[in-house]
Amino acid sequence: MASIRDVAKHAGVSVATVSRVLNDKGYVSVETRKKVEAAIADLNYRPNEVARSLFNKQSNTLGLILPDIMNPFFPELARAIEDTASKLGYTVILCNSDEDEEKAQRYIDVLLQKYVDGIIISSNTIQEKTIRELTIPVVCIDREISKDIPTIVVDNKEGARMATRFLKEKGRRKIAHIRGPLEIINAEERCEGYREVVSGEEWFQESYIVNGHYRMDTATEATLELFRRHPEIEGIFAANDTMAIGAMKAAYEHGLKVPEDISIIGFDGIALAKASIPELTTIEQPLYELGQKAAKMLIKLIKGQDVKKTFYQFDVQLIERDST
Ligand code: RIB
Repeated sequence: MASIRDVAKHAGVSVATVSRVLNDKGYVSVETRKKVEAAIADLNYRPNEVARSLFNKQSNTLGLILPDIMNPFFPELARAIEDTASKLGYTVILCNSDEDEEKAQRYIDVLLQKYVDGIIISSNTIQEKTIRELTIPVVCIDREISKDIPTIVVDNKEGARMATRFLKEKGRRKIAHIRGPLEIINAEERCEGYREVVSGEEWFQESYIVNGHYRMDTATEATLELFRRHPEIEGIFAANDTMAIGAMKAAYEHGLKVPEDISIIGFDGIALAKASIPELTTIEQPLYELGQKAAKMLIKLIKGQDVKKTFYQFDVQLIERDST
């Protein structure tokens, strides 16, 4: 395989000149540029990307660290980020952290070794200190780590209020909540939104809140247990669509009809919510906009461009379907 030295020799110029042409940096006359480009074509030379990164100290690559790529929310988010980055000339390295801080740290180390230019992170385990020590820009998405770090989130609490109020407007009382993991900030915010709406109700009990851990299987188990302890439940607000689908499965297994016997509403607006039977009513996050904003903000930070706002909280919207 031809090296940069072969190209320089073939074109009759120095290696530094070839490098300036390759990296489009510094002055090169039109005639010299033509000679180098002809030599590159003749020798079918392909620059060594790692060497290029070392020279430029940039790779036009972004890192993306997500907590659970099995949860349909994250692939949809990754799609938006990758589309936007690609249009702006960047490739994306996707990392799955499993909400494990050590695994996330290992990925951060690998991304730094690969000279990524910036990282987008959705995590509740990576510490603010870890991010502040990095020498490249970071944008947090979906889960806030610190107000001092550029962050893109949605109004989780208001979305939860909207979901719970909607069940009440549908005439449902005795409304339960399948919450996400205790350590995840947006799960806490959604639970708080639910509490604000039900806390004044004489029917509300603390045991109406069960933990589904943002997963379908654990949400099904938690909902079955809920039905056993509280057969009076008429409505469920699940903190994400994956758990709402798990709750619908539990209703089916328990012989309850949705929505005739019980209304169920989710949160996220993943595509799968339209595939369930009945189709799931949900609080839709502007998923594509979230990913697009995060990628654009990160690339502006990488380029040292002025970023006026670094904290965005997007509104969510209620999408009514058949499950309520
Ligand atoms: O479904 C997974 C959940 O985790 C989503 O609600 C999203 O907000 C992420 O934080």
